[in-house]
Amino acid sequence: MATVLTHNAARLAGLVHPLPREVACTLVILGGAGDLSHKKLLPALYNLTLDGALGPKFAILGFSLEPLDDEKYRQFARDGIESFSRRALTEAGWDKFAPLLHFLSGSFTETADYQKLKQRLGDIESETGTGGNRVFYFAVPPQFIERCSAGLTQAGLIGQADGNRGFTRVVIEKPIGHDLASAAEINNQLSKYFAENQVFRIDHYLGKETVENLMVLRFANSIFEPIWTSRFVDHVQITVAEQEGVGTRAAYYDKAGALRDMVQSHLLQVLCMIAMEAPRSTHPDAVRDAKLDVLLSLRPFEPADVGKSVVRGQYEQGLVNGEKVAAYRAEEHIPSDSNTETFVALKCYIENWRWAGVPFYLRTGKRMTNRASEIAIQFKRVPRILYNSRPAPPLPANVLSIRIQPDEGLSLNIVGKQPGSPLRLGPVKVDFHSSIASPEAYETLLRDVITGDQTLFMRRDTVEAAWRFIQNILDSWEVSGSEPFLYPAGSSGPTEAAVMIARDGRTWRNL
Ligand code: BG6
Repeated sequence: MATVLTHNAARLAGLVHPLPREVACTLVILGGAGDLSHKKLLPALYNLTLDGALGPKFAILGFSLEPLDDEKYRQFARDGIESFSRRALTEAGWDKFAPLLHFLSGSFTETADYQKLKQRLGDIESETGTGGNRVFYFAVPPQFIERCSAGLTQAGLIGQADGNRGFTRVVIEKPIGHDLASAAEINNQLSKYFAENQVFRIDHYLGKETVENLMVLRFANSIFEPIWTSRFVDHVQITVAEQEGVGTRAAYYDKAGALRDMVQSHLLQVLCMIAMEAPRSTHPDAVRDAKLDVLLSLRPFEPADVGKSVVRGQYEQGLVNGEKVAAYRAEEHIPSDSNTETFVALKCYIENWRWAGVPFYLRTGKRMTNRASEIAIQFKRVPRILYNSRPAPPLPANVLSIRIQPDEGLSLNIVGKQPGSPLRLGPVKVDFHSSIASPEAYETLLRDVITGDQTLFMRRDTVEAAWRFIQNILDSWEVSGSEPFLYPAGSSGPTEAAVMIARDGRTWRNL
């Protein structure tokens, strides 16, 4: 029987790189003149154009309130590319990209504006020959999801309405909800208008090259899987440390905090990739089933565990890269008595045969010493005999460190003999760096939306399973009114996080 690899699976397997040429489609960005479009989406689309991934039957239509026209939108895009693109803007590249861009000024809440959108889209489709294939990217605040879905549907823009034979897909950005109930509510709204296979929920961490590579590392090599179990692994650490503070997103962030903003999505998704069983095939749903199993196997937190195994922190003023930065509570638009956490460290367990008894330590924070995202698989120590016999201090354990950013790569810490005599042992680091510049996460994810590959997108059940796990922690914090522990900006987080892991006889890795 022939095996059909999805585009993604094929790409993961390194069999095919480029997209099938000539993807015919119009990408409508609701919120097309917003921050996400400026900083991420338009630069990513520019890079896809440079790669030849967007053919002549491809068009981009920005739709939002700003009073722009096509020319002004092109200028907006050009500014974004000049400031944020992975590859510098060239005139040759721009000449290819600029004609793809169109703009329509309109409101997400006005029914009449969806009619205008329909008209404009129809014109673009007939000029460009996109075959009625449409992707609607909801770069809008969550409260507009339902309104946009209804507006598009009422205008007959979704699916096979009006005899359209093309595909329709929608892309939804995080945050999907604020808690389990609101996430379910958003998903219910989406399911009124779209089938699950039309919905692409983005978690941009899944588009990061190293995260995507985790499956290849694990399942395209024979040396890792046999030792990827509680028999050999002592514990796993997943760290996403940022130097940035809350920036301009105070209104959103102060209501969210690090647990909702980072752990519920990015860290749990990375955890799934590290801990999942081999999927039964490379089909997107097989991969997503395997990830869901991890979330469903997480040991739920009891209220009494939360105090012991979850630490919340908030940054105070301090020095980051030698520069003085303000405390979270002194940031613009943050209440001076805010108790929102900007740091979380937690210990969790996956209760299945592979991982029983192995702690997974997760940690994320803003205004930390360095920007460093890493997964570290810490193997068990060798017995206290032979080279490791007493009274000498114990040999360090082997660690496989998978760096997501900023410096993507893989390193393995082993123990070796230092040259010369007498016999002395010392740490040896085996390092791997890819010499090829990686695409940005949004490049990868936009390609996948356009080609219809859902592997790297979150299914409804996955989002809700992640919220279910997080909800116990939120509930417990609510009941206890727990205040965050303060940590100086530019540090590695509150000392309580170090104390938590030290109770288990372990330490956090240096950032
Ligand atoms: C976003 C969070 O999802 O991810 C931000 O909302 C965070 O708070 C960002 O800064 C981190 O992404 P990256 O790709 O810079 O690590």
